Amino acid sequence: MRKDRSARRRAARACAASLLLALFALSGSVRADAKRAAPADPSYVAECGSCHLAYPPGLLSAASWGQVMQGLERHFGSDASVDAATHAHIDRYLREHAGAERKFGTSALRISETRWFRKEHDEVPAGAWRSATVKSAANCGACHVAAEKGDYSERGVRVPRF
Ligand code: HEC
Ligand code: HEC
Repeated sequence: MRKDRSARRRAARACAASLLLALFALSGSVRADAKRAAPADPSYVAECGSCHLAYPPGLLSAASWGQVMQGLERHFGSDASVDAATHAHIDRYLREHAGAERKFGTSALRISETRWFRKEHDEVPAGAWRSATVKSAANCGACHVAAEKGDYSERGVRVPRF
Protein backbone atom coordinates (compact mmCIF):
# COMPACT_ATOMS: atom_id res chain seq x y z
CA MET A 1 0.00 0.00 0.00
CA ARG A 2 2.65 2.46 1.06
CA LYS A 3 4.86 1.44 -1.83
CA ASP A 4 2.01 2.15 -4.19
CA ARG A 5 1.50 5.64 -2.82
CA SER A 6 5.16 6.60 -3.07
CA ALA A 7 5.25 5.34 -6.65
CA ARG A 8 2.29 7.51 -7.42
CA ARG A 9 3.97 10.44 -5.74
CA ARG A 10 7.09 9.82 -7.78
CA ALA A 11 5.03 9.73 -10.94
CA ALA A 12 3.30 12.98 -9.98
CA ARG A 13 6.66 14.63 -9.34
CA ALA A 14 7.98 13.47 -12.70
CA CYS A 15 4.85 14.76 -14.35
CA ALA A 16 5.17 18.18 -12.69
CA ALA A 17 8.82 18.34 -13.71
CA SER A 18 8.08 17.62 -17.35
CA LEU A 19 5.25 20.16 -17.31
CA LEU A 20 7.64 22.76 -15.94
CA LEU A 21 10.15 21.84 -18.61
CA ALA A 22 7.53 22.20 -21.32
CA LEU A 23 6.47 25.59 -19.97
CA PHE A 24 10.07 26.69 -19.86
CA ALA A 25 10.63 25.63 -23.46
CA LEU A 26 7.45 27.39 -24.51
CA SER A 27 8.39 30.65 -22.78
CA GLY A 28 11.77 30.43 -24.48
CA SER A 29 10.26 30.15 -27.94
CA VAL A 30 7.78 32.93 -27.22
CA ARG A 31 10.67 35.14 -26.17
CA ALA A 32 12.65 34.25 -29.27
CA ASP A 33 9.70 35.17 -31.48
CA ALA A 34 8.87 38.43 -29.73
CA LYS A 35 10.90 40.42 -32.29
CA ARG A 36 8.65 39.14 -35.05
CA ALA A 37 5.39 39.41 -33.15
CA ALA A 38 2.50 41.21 -34.82
CA PRO A 39 2.70 44.87 -33.73
CA ALA A 40 0.21 45.70 -31.00
CA ASP A 41 0.11 49.50 -31.15
CA PRO A 42 -3.23 50.52 -32.77
CA SER A 43 -1.92 53.82 -34.06
CA TYR A 44 1.13 52.17 -35.66
CA VAL A 45 -1.02 49.46 -37.25
CA ALA A 46 -3.52 52.03 -38.57
CA GLU A 47 -0.94 54.44 -40.04
CA CYS A 48 1.77 52.02 -41.10
CA GLY A 49 -0.33 49.03 -42.00
CA SER A 50 -2.61 50.58 -44.61
CA CYS A 51 -0.36 50.34 -47.70
CA HIS A 52 1.55 47.24 -46.63
CA LEU A 53 1.89 44.90 -43.68
CA ALA A 54 2.59 46.68 -40.40
CA TYR A 55 6.14 45.35 -40.22
CA PRO A 56 7.36 43.91 -36.91
CA PRO A 57 9.27 46.73 -35.13
CA GLY A 58 11.88 44.22 -33.95
CA LEU A 59 13.16 43.64 -37.49
CA LEU A 60 14.95 47.00 -37.84
CA SER A 61 17.23 48.88 -35.44
CA ALA A 62 16.14 52.07 -33.67
CA ALA A 63 18.54 54.05 -35.88
CA SER A 64 16.93 52.66 -39.02
CA TRP A 65 13.40 53.34 -37.79
CA GLY A 66 14.50 56.88 -36.97
CA GLN A 67 15.56 57.37 -40.58
CA VAL A 68 12.38 55.85 -41.94
CA MET A 69 10.32 58.17 -39.73
CA GLN A 70 12.32 61.22 -40.80
CA GLY A 71 11.47 60.71 -44.47
CA LEU A 72 7.75 59.93 -44.44
CA GLU A 73 6.89 62.71 -46.92
CA ARG A 74 8.95 60.91 -49.51
CA HIS A 75 8.53 57.31 -48.42
CA PHE A 76 9.54 54.90 -51.20
CA GLY A 77 7.72 57.05 -53.73
CA SER A 78 4.66 57.63 -51.51
CA ASP A 79 3.59 60.30 -49.05
CA ALA A 80 3.19 58.48 -45.72
CA SER A 81 3.35 61.57 -43.51
CA VAL A 82 1.30 61.81 -40.31
CA ASP A 83 0.51 64.65 -37.88
CA ALA A 84 3.13 65.64 -35.32
CA ALA A 85 1.56 63.89 -32.32
CA THR A 86 1.08 60.63 -34.22
CA HIS A 87 4.62 60.93 -35.56
CA ALA A 88 6.05 61.28 -32.06
CA HIS A 89 3.98 58.37 -30.80
CA ILE A 90 4.92 55.96 -33.61
CA ASP A 91 8.57 57.05 -33.52
CA ARG A 92 8.74 56.21 -29.82
CA TYR A 93 6.88 52.93 -30.24
CA LEU A 94 9.23 51.76 -33.00
CA ARG A 95 12.40 52.75 -31.14
CA GLU A 96 11.23 51.06 -27.94
CA HIS A 97 10.53 47.81 -29.77
CA ALA A 98 13.41 47.95 -32.24
CA GLY A 99 15.86 45.14 -32.92
CA ALA A 100 19.58 45.09 -32.06
CA GLU A 101 22.05 47.15 -34.09
CA ARG A 102 24.54 44.29 -34.25
CA LYS A 103 21.90 42.23 -36.00
CA PHE A 104 20.10 44.76 -38.20
CA GLY A 105 22.77 47.45 -38.65
CA THR A 106 22.05 51.17 -38.61
CA SER A 107 21.83 52.21 -42.25
CA ALA A 108 19.11 50.12 -43.89
CA LEU A 109 15.78 51.78 -44.61
CA ARG A 110 14.38 48.41 -45.48
CA ILE A 111 14.10 45.20 -43.48
CA SER A 112 14.64 43.45 -46.79
CA GLU A 113 18.04 45.11 -47.22
CA THR A 114 19.54 44.13 -43.89
CA ARG A 115 22.23 41.49 -43.76
CA TRP A 116 20.00 39.54 -41.38
CA PHE A 117 17.25 39.38 -44.01
CA ARG A 118 19.58 38.24 -46.77
CA LYS A 119 20.93 35.48 -44.57
CA GLU A 120 17.48 34.26 -43.56
CA HIS A 121 16.43 34.23 -47.22
CA ASP A 122 19.55 32.96 -48.94
CA GLU A 123 17.75 29.83 -50.10
CA VAL A 124 14.90 31.67 -51.80
CA PRO A 125 15.45 31.36 -55.57
CA ALA A 126 16.08 34.70 -57.31
CA GLY A 127 13.09 34.24 -59.61
CA ALA A 128 10.70 34.04 -56.65
CA TRP A 129 11.34 37.66 -55.66
CA ARG A 130 10.45 38.89 -59.11
CA SER A 131 7.41 36.66 -59.59
CA ALA A 132 4.07 38.32 -60.33
CA THR A 133 2.58 37.45 -56.94
CA VAL A 134 5.60 38.57 -54.91
CA LYS A 135 6.96 41.54 -56.92
CA SER A 136 8.92 42.89 -53.95
CA ALA A 137 10.77 41.47 -50.98
CA ALA A 138 8.76 43.97 -48.93
CA ASN A 139 5.67 41.90 -49.70
CA CYS A 140 6.24 39.50 -46.77
CA GLY A 141 2.71 38.14 -46.85
CA ALA A 142 3.15 36.77 -50.37
CA CYS A 143 5.23 33.93 -48.91
CA HIS A 144 4.55 34.08 -45.17
CA VAL A 145 0.85 33.34 -45.25
CA ALA A 146 0.27 34.32 -41.59
CA ALA A 147 2.62 37.33 -41.54
CA GLU A 148 -0.24 39.56 -40.34
CA LYS A 149 -0.25 37.51 -37.15
CA GLY A 150 3.51 37.77 -36.76
CA ASP A 151 3.98 34.14 -37.81
CA TYR A 152 7.09 33.70 -39.96
CA SER A 153 7.62 30.07 -38.98
CA GLU A 154 8.71 27.50 -41.51
CA ARG A 155 5.31 25.82 -41.64
CA GLY A 156 3.68 29.10 -42.70
CA VAL A 157 5.95 29.64 -45.72
CA ARG A 158 4.64 29.10 -49.26
CA VAL A 159 6.97 30.41 -51.90
CA PRO A 160 4.80 31.02 -55.00
CA ARG A 161 5.68 29.26 -58.24
CA PHE A 162 7.35 31.41 -60.83
C1 HEC B 1 0.89 55.65 -48.65
C2 HEC B 1 1.34 54.27 -48.52
C3 HEC B 1 2.29 53.95 -47.38
C4 HEC B 1 2.13 54.21 -46.02
C5 HEC B 1 0.95 54.91 -45.35
C6 HEC B 1 3.30 53.65 -45.37
N1 HEC B 1 4.12 53.05 -46.29
FE1 HEC B 1 5.84 52.05 -45.86
N2 HEC B 1 6.08 51.64 -47.84
C7 HEC B 1 5.27 52.09 -48.86
C8 HEC B 1 5.79 51.62 -50.13
C9 HEC B 1 5.18 51.89 -51.50
C10 HEC B 1 6.95 50.86 -49.82
C11 HEC B 1 7.85 50.14 -50.82
C12 HEC B 1 7.26 48.76 -51.02
C13 HEC B 1 8.04 47.90 -51.99
O1 HEC B 1 9.24 48.09 -52.17
O2 HEC B 1 7.42 46.97 -52.54
C14 HEC B 1 7.09 50.90 -48.38
C15 HEC B 1 8.11 50.26 -47.70
C16 HEC B 1 8.34 50.34 -46.33
C17 HEC B 1 9.44 49.71 -45.63
C18 HEC B 1 10.52 48.84 -46.25
C19 HEC B 1 10.04 47.40 -46.40
C20 HEC B 1 11.16 46.46 -46.80
O3 HEC B 1 11.74 45.83 -45.91
O4 HEC B 1 11.49 46.38 -47.99
C21 HEC B 1 9.33 50.07 -44.32
C22 HEC B 1 10.26 49.67 -43.20
C23 HEC B 1 8.15 50.90 -44.19
N3 HEC B 1 7.55 51.02 -45.43
C24 HEC B 1 7.72 51.47 -43.01
C25 HEC B 1 6.57 52.26 -42.90
C26 HEC B 1 6.17 52.94 -41.68
C27 HEC B 1 6.92 52.92 -40.39
C28 HEC B 1 4.99 53.57 -41.96
C29 HEC B 1 4.14 54.43 -41.04
C30 HEC B 1 4.74 55.63 -40.52
C31 HEC B 1 4.66 53.31 -43.37
N4 HEC B 1 5.64 52.52 -43.90
C32 HEC B 1 3.52 53.76 -44.02
C33 HEC B 1 4.11 52.80 -48.71
C34 HEC B 1 3.55 53.23 -47.52
C1 HEC C 1 9.63 35.09 -51.84
C2 HEC C 1 9.11 34.61 -50.59
C3 HEC C 1 9.41 35.38 -49.31
C4 HEC C 1 9.19 36.72 -49.05
C5 HEC C 1 8.59 37.78 -49.96
C6 HEC C 1 9.64 36.95 -47.68
N1 HEC C 1 10.09 35.77 -47.15
FE1 HEC C 1 10.75 35.50 -45.23
N2 HEC C 1 11.26 33.58 -45.67
C7 HEC C 1 11.00 32.93 -46.87
C8 HEC C 1 11.56 31.59 -46.82
C9 HEC C 1 11.49 30.53 -47.92
C10 HEC C 1 12.19 31.48 -45.55
C11 HEC C 1 12.95 30.29 -44.99
C12 HEC C 1 11.96 29.36 -44.36
C13 HEC C 1 12.57 28.69 -43.21
O1 HEC C 1 13.57 28.03 -43.37
O2 HEC C 1 12.03 28.88 -42.08
C14 HEC C 1 11.97 32.74 -44.85
C15 HEC C 1 12.39 33.01 -43.56
C16 HEC C 1 12.01 34.13 -42.82
C17 HEC C 1 12.24 34.31 -41.42
C18 HEC C 1 12.92 33.32 -40.49
C19 HEC C 1 11.88 32.35 -39.98
C20 HEC C 1 12.44 31.42 -38.94
O3 HEC C 1 11.63 30.86 -38.18
O4 HEC C 1 13.65 31.26 -38.85
C21 HEC C 1 11.71 35.53 -41.06
C22 HEC C 1 11.65 36.15 -39.68
C23 HEC C 1 11.19 36.12 -42.27
N3 HEC C 1 11.39 35.24 -43.32
C24 HEC C 1 10.63 37.37 -42.35
C25 HEC C 1 10.25 37.99 -43.54
C26 HEC C 1 9.81 39.37 -43.63
C27 HEC C 1 9.68 40.32 -42.46
C28 HEC C 1 9.53 39.61 -44.95
C29 HEC C 1 9.11 40.91 -45.59
C30 HEC C 1 9.90 42.10 -45.30
C31 HEC C 1 9.79 38.36 -45.68
N4 HEC C 1 10.23 37.41 -44.78
C32 HEC C 1 9.59 38.17 -47.03
C33 HEC C 1 10.33 33.47 -47.95
C34 HEC C 1 9.97 34.80 -48.10
